Amino acid sequence: MSRSRTAMLAALALVAGASGTALAMVPDAGSIAAIPCTVDYQVQNQWSTGFTANVTVTNNSAAKSSWAVKWSYGGNQQVTSGWNAKVTQAGTAVTAANETYNGSLPTGGSVSFGFQASYSGSNALPATFTLDGVTCNVDSGTGGPTGPGTPGPGTGTKVDNPYAGAKVYVNPDWAAKAAAETGGSRISNQPTGVWMDRIAAINGTTGARGLRAHLDTALTQKGSGELVVQLVIYDLPGRDCAALASNGELGPTEIDKYKTQFIDPIAAILADPKYASLRIVNTIEIDSLPNLITNTGSRATATPQCDTMKANGNYVKGVGYALNKLGDIPNVYNYIDAGHHGWLGWDDNFAPSAQLFAQAATAEGATVDDVHGFITNTANYSALKENNFSINETIAGKSVRESKWVDWNRYTDELSYAQAFRTQLVSAGFRSTIGMLIDTSRNGWGGSARPAGPGAQTSVDTYVDGGRYDRRIHVGNWCNQSGAGLGERPKAAPAAGIDAYVWMKPPGESDGSSSAIPNDEGKGFDRMCDPTYTGNPRNNNNMSGALGNAPLSGHWFSAQFQQLMQNAYPPLS
Ligand code: BGC
Repeated sequence: MSRSRTAMLAALALVAGASGTALAMVPDAGSIAAIPCTVDYQVQNQWSTGFTANVTVTNNSAAKSSWAVKWSYGGNQQVTSGWNAKVTQAGTAVTAANETYNGSLPTGGSVSFGFQASYSGSNALPATFTLDGVTCNVDSGTGGPTGPGTPGPGTGTKVDNPYAGAKVYVNPDWAAKAAAETGGSRISNQPTGVWMDRIAAINGTTGARGLRAHLDTALTQKGSGELVVQLVIYDLPGRDCAALASNGELGPTEIDKYKTQFIDPIAAILADPKYASLRIVNTIEIDSLPNLITNTGSRATATPQCDTMKANGNYVKGVGYALNKLGDIPNVYNYIDAGHHGWLGWDDNFAPSAQLFAQAATAEGATVDDVHGFITNTANYSALKENNFSINETIAGKSVRESKWVDWNRYTDELSYAQAFRTQLVSAGFRSTIGMLIDTSRNGWGGSARPAGPGAQTSVDTYVDGGRYDRRIHVGNWCNQSGAGLGERPKAAPAAGIDAYVWMKPPGESDGSSSAIPNDEGKGFDRMCDPTYTGNPRNNNNMSGALGNAPLSGHWFSAQFQQLMQNAYPPLS
């Protein structure tokens, strides 16, 4: 995330070892009225292992009887004591709340507090401050592009839920394939994600237009209303470290190429003022960060490739870099991939994942203000709502959590997981305004095999297995799942905390080939896409449940598309 010029100069002075450095993020005269609050953060004294700082906050909004100022650190700064405010820190996130004696903050009033902190390395200045959840030093009007003298990028110009009151871009390249299928015109007008899955995708590949061409088409779809364009940013070094089907073009160490040949050119296009009227939603790098939690170290599910990506830090750096660069653009909304309930819903994974996401969101210059929200279930099959069983039930003397299917998970479906994970993310330092997206492209599980009610109470397993909509053999199965159907149609603000149901994975595009197919996309052959495969620790050694005769990931898979329509839930009319 970039800063105002004042802040940048101050940061440089600080690196040079100056003390008494001031970061006065003071807006232009003329826009003061639109600035809800200003924060002046001054390092007063700094030595090799610590510093003291004084913070003055000015409230330009309605009078307050209590207040809390928040920021987060990009480095290892750790607050050790504070004065004139209760200063606490969780991870990199700092909260300074009023003392009983200085809670009153009238309109136009200021209050100051101070603290001491330890640190090592550089003591980079926080980029963004909030007062009671509102970003300070940022023009809250719908100003122009960020530039010197213009208050920083931040969230001031972003709307809370980009999907609210907006249409969503229909990718004509996908729509043409869908419409060419028998019955496909029933859904070919649905919005789907546009995947930037390799450097060549930026300029376009055979049968898929490039990014500018998509945005130009989006402008024609937009008309005079609002339009969301959904992109998936997906080309990290060492991509897909726990599987082979979506291995990418960049090797584990090619972080510089990722930055300069992938993210920078995408950022340059998205920042073109021509596209400033579009609401651009980015899904950031699916599967990467969750893999670092679940598939590394001493776990049976670990892979050498994920250990490598954890050790070299290039997933965290890549995600941080992408968030920072793309989040600076006023009309761009970043949503980080948050796996799905059947991946991160266990206690071992849930809180550590939120922690890791906070680390990535403060790497490479990014701040939590570069994150608008999170997306769950991208390209996965986890059911949105399981109505026929819940973890609070006990059947034949056993908790539903003890069933083979649930296997001690805390969540049984995506909606409950996404809502709970949102709360966890806020407590890990993300803004309280974040929203969730859920990919419902292929989690419908309708058709004739859909259970009409709960299973028999003979045992906890008959109960759960007889009642569950998700008919995968194991919740860890992810490739071209047999029996799946289209899920909820894309929809804005469908439930509390959820910005939208989206079809980020375009239905009909394969998850991976069911046998080895030579290609120039870096894609490997993963046996989880082979229907004869008997599994590995990541699906608890179960059959893969994949459809046969599948093409390479991303390629059109007509038989799957037909099955998805047939098993749609809600059904297609
Ligand atoms: C593939 C991408 C493709 C995407 C959407 C992924 O599994 O690796 O190449 O663009 O699916 O279909």
